[in-house]
Amino acid sequence: MNKGKIIALANQKGGVGKTTTTINLAASLAKLGHKVLVVDSDPQGNASSGLGINIADMEKHLYHCYLDNEHVTKSVRQTEYLPSLYVLPTHIDLIGVEVELMGAQRREKYLSQMLQPLLEDYEYVFVDCPPSLGLLTLNALSAADSVMIPLQCEYFALEGLSQLIRTIRLVKRSYNKKLKIEGLVLTMYDRRNRLTFQVAKEVKQHFKEKVYRTVIPRNVRLSECPSYGKPVIEYDKKSPGALGYMNLGKEFIKRQVA
Ligand SMILES: Nc1ncnc2c1ncn2[C@@H]1O[C@H](COP(=O)(O)OP(=O)(O)O)[C@@H](O)[C@H]1O
Ligand SMILES: [Mg+2]
Repeated sequence: MNKGKIIALANQKGGVGKTTTTINLAASLAKLGHKVLVVDSDPQGNASSGLGINIADMEKHLYHCYLDNEHVTKSVRQTEYLPSLYVLPTHIDLIGVEVELMGAQRREKYLSQMLQPLLEDYEYVFVDCPPSLGLLTLNALSAADSVMIPLQCEYFALEGLSQLIRTIRLVKRSYNKKLKIEGLVLTMYDRRNRLTFQVAKEVKQHFKEKVYRTVIPRNVRLSECPSYGKPVIEYDKKSPGALGYMNLGKEFIKRQVA
């Protein structure tokens, strides 16, 4: 098997749909028969809990992996609902990494190194980033083959995007030559809202074919399902949110071969 592809979900703005997209795109790909790993690199742990992992029960998680790569394989959990979907969970302690590695050499390469032994086992590895451009996001971008950028269709969607693009370029130049932009996903799309349409148009003007044709609608099912520890496809597979992420999964796969 080829080595797995690492995709970082990044945007330093909070609440734009990084975690929702990580969970539900990963679940859709698992549903389509791919073996997928979600790496929860946000100390908030929303991707872990949203995939049904009880953080309090975990002995080892991503923070321990940063301290010692030995913990990596033991920390990975299979999700309850989708047998080909796995999680490397996190814990609020992960926040310590930002400070503890401050003086460390090659501190941007820790995640990349720890994921290497896992790449034989998975086709796709999605890394959910925190809402900042700190060391955790830097590690994700340094490890990744590509970065996927969720954008919420609201007035300030483009704010901060140029900074993110600059950071991606800088990482590419200094740490990770292979890094590409996988695509931009428009989330929380509301067809009845003219502003949504404006934002979508502007994003497409700038980023052209990098913007997925599939847009993710605003759908309450997507905000409900994490409290049940399930991806939307297992919670309400006929909901607009589930259909949206299923279509995104198909478009994502189609673009891999194109
Ligand atoms: N398409 C959507 N429709 C409705 N609610 C959404 C949608 N996408 C995300 N949400 C909700 O919006 C909030 C922020 O989304 P989240 O994925 O956690 O963003 P981020 O990880 O970028 O901070 C969450 O409460 C989530 O449930
Ligand atoms: Mg998040």
